[in-house]
Amino acid sequence: MARILTGITSSGKPHLGNILGAILPGIELSEQKNNESLFFIADLHSIISVKDAALVKEHTKAIAAAWLAFGFNTDNNIFYRQSRIPEVTELTWYLNCHTPFPMLQNAHAFKEKSNKLADVNAGLFTYPVLMASDILMYDANIVPVGKDQQQHLEMTRDIARSFNHYYNEEIFVLPEAKIDEEVMTVPGTDGQKMSKSYGNTIDVFLPEKQLRKNVMRIVTDSTPLEEPKNPDTCNVFALYKLLASPARVEEMRNNYKGGNYGYGTAKQELYEVILEKYAKERALFNELMNNPDTIESKLLQGEEKAREIGIHVLKRVRKVLGFNR
Ligand code: ADP
Ligand code: TRP
Repeated sequence: MARILTGITSSGKPHLGNILGAILPGIELSEQKNNESLFFIADLHSIISVKDAALVKEHTKAIAAAWLAFGFNTDNNIFYRQSRIPEVTELTWYLNCHTPFPMLQNAHAFKEKSNKLADVNAGLFTYPVLMASDILMYDANIVPVGKDQQQHLEMTRDIARSFNHYYNEEIFVLPEAKIDEEVMTVPGTDGQKMSKSYGNTIDVFLPEKQLRKNVMRIVTDSTPLEEPKNPDTCNVFALYKLLASPARVEEMRNNYKGGNYGYGTAKQELYEVILEKYAKERALFNELMNNPDTIESKLLQGEEKAREIGIHVLKRVRKVLGFNR
């Protein structure tokens, strides 16, 4: 049996990058025979940047609704909020004490902000250790993530390996990252990686009018309408390619190259493909958001199961550290 695990931070609403980079690949793995999946909402990670309880709760609910709308089967698997298994913070402390400072100094999320240290809290600095705990506390074998998380997975493996080596015992399972080459990094409306923290997301669950506006915001160059355009450097085309059928992608490619085809038209086609492709999920998402009790009961059920596994692993760690009860 392989254990699959992944999390999404509730620092914002779920977006197309989360869906293509984590939710769909995760669900696909969860449906394979003999796999058991643990999918969670990383609400402890979210308070690194968002200090607003109501907002974190709202985002947590929306991310949970997104998992469910895309069909995650919570009866056969485990669905939970990270904060509801608070023992993960205990493990984080143990791992903190085994993690070299320079490893954390090297983490992208910290490095990006290291020229303005006054804005960096200790949570951001030790973020990869909490993530390592998330993974190691459940003996996860496979972690489906976007490319941006590759470094964190390497750190998790390093931490696990050196812990096992130091105590000369196989305390932790070494997890493997699973990164889908095709959707490694979904671009945002500005062409950078789509991320809650860059304000460049596409929220496929928005009402139609707002979704259209969201798509129309995608940045393009200023090539005039009549001139041929390069599909391979265009954000609209890059997103379309991830969603439309190969035949439609080919058609759009030819339209770009032929000239007399404007970015406005390309955006309209992208908008339509989103509506078409995600019609069922959009409806289900709204239904769930209006029925928070359904979401809550699925999470509560998962949290009980997650805690059982987590505590079992934690006991192994406490034992080698001399803290067993
Ligand atoms: P964000 O960057 O918006 O805060 P998260 O860090 O919560 O997103 O990411 C949750 C999951 O979604 C991770 O597996 C991450 O790799 C994936 N993901 C986020 N953004 C993208 C993207 N632009 N392309 C591919 N995967 C992504
Ligand atoms: N750090 C991840 C992100 O921002 C979210 C996350 C937290 C995660 N813990 C995890 C992903 C464990 C995979 C496994 O994308």
